[in-house]
Amino acid sequence: MKELLQPGILGTGSYLPKRVMTNFDLEKIVDTNNEWIIKRTGIKERRIAGPEIATSDMATEASIKAIEDAGLTAKDIDLIIVATTTPDMPFPATACIVQGNIGATQAAAFDLEAACSGFVYGITVASQFIATGFYKNIIVVGADCLSRVTNWKDRNTCVLFGDGAGAVVMGRVPDGEGMLSHYLGADGTGGKSVLLPAGGSRLPASHETVEKGLHAIQMDGSEVFKFATRAMYSAAIEAIDKAGLSLEDVDLMIPHQANIRIIEAARKKINLPLEKVYINLDRYGNMSAASIPVALDEAVKSKMVKKGDHIVLVGFGGGLTWGSCVLEWSK
Ligand code: ACO
Repeated sequence: MKELLQPGILGTGSYLPKRVMTNFDLEKIVDTNNEWIIKRTGIKERRIAGPEIATSDMATEASIKAIEDAGLTAKDIDLIIVATTTPDMPFPATACIVQGNIGATQAAAFDLEAACSGFVYGITVASQFIATGFYKNIIVVGADCLSRVTNWKDRNTCVLFGDGAGAVVMGRVPDGEGMLSHYLGADGTGGKSVLLPAGGSRLPASHETVEKGLHAIQMDGSEVFKFATRAMYSAAIEAIDKAGLSLEDVDLMIPHQANIRIIEAARKKINLPLEKVYINLDRYGNMSAASIPVALDEAVKSKMVKKGDHIVLVGFGGGLTWGSCVLEWSK
C-alpha cells in the first residue's frame, strides 16, 4: 500500500461584510433588547452582507487571502470545497463560481452541506485527498449569508445570525504536524429541530411557501441547545483522544460560535480553562460554516497561535451534524 502523506493548513483568510448590525439596531425591528441578547447568547453585534454581495463573493475574498497567505497562486490549487447552506443558487455550485472568480483553472470544485459543521466536514474530506496524494493543494471555505434566510420578524432566530466567510489552503506538511485526528457524526432523526423547509424538491418555491415564510430558518432553540452542548463536549473529547493527546496538550479550542452558554457548558465539562477557548461570537454572531474558519484566521493573524500548538476545532449544526479535529500548527 502507498504511504499516506500528512495533511495540514498552509494558509488562512477571511472576509466579513462591512455593515455592522448591533443589538440596538435589532431592538428597532423586533420585540427584543440588548440585555436579553447578551445574557442569553453573548452576541453584541453581527455583520450583514449588502444586497450586492452573495456567498460566493465572500468566499472568493477569503480564498484569495488564504492563497496569498500560503504563498501560492490560484493555478496551484487542485480542488475547491465550499461548505455552505446558503449557496448563491441551487446550481452551479458556489465552489465553481469561486473557481471562476479566482482563476483556479486547474481546480475541481464542489459544495458540501453540513450546516454549521460544514467547515470541519470540509477539511476532513480535503485531508483524505491530500493524504492519498490524489490532490496537492486544496482550498476549503466555510461561507454563509444567513441574513438572506433569516425571518426578520422572528425574535427567536433573527438575533442569532451573521454573514461571513473563512478559508484555508490545505496541503502537505512534515510528518507529525498538521491534522492529527478527525471525527464526524450525524443524527438525521433530529433534523427537524433546525431547518429551512422550502425551496428544495420537497417544497419547491411557490406563492404559498413565500406567504407562509417557509424560506427562512426555523428552529427549536432549546432542542438545539441541548444537542449542541452534548455534541460539542463529546466531539472535542473524541478528537483529542484520537490524536493521542491529553487535555493538558491542548493550546486552543476553536468551537462553533453559536451561543456563549453552549460554549461555556461544553468548556466546563471538558475542563478547559477559558483562556484556551477562542470566542468572537460577541462581534459576529453565528455565521454557520464560516464561524470556525473566521475564528481560526483571527487567532492565527493575531499571533495567538504559534508553531507546534495543538488546536481543537469543534462544530455542530443542522442535520443534525457534528465534527471535530485536532491539528498541530505547522507554520
Ligand atoms: N428577545 C427577547 N426575548 C426572547 C428572544 C429575544 N430575541 N428570543 C426569545 N425570547 C423569549 C421567548 O419568547 C421566551 O419567552 P416566554 O418564556 O414568554 O415564552 C423566553 O425568551 C425564553 O425563551 P427560550 O427559548 O427558553 O430561551 P433560551 O434561553 O433557550 O434561549 C436561544 C434561546 C438563544 C435560541 C437558545 O435556545 C439557543 O441558543 N439555542 C441554540 C441555537 C443554535 O445553536 N443554533 C445553531 C444551529 S443554527 C444552524 O445550523 C444554521
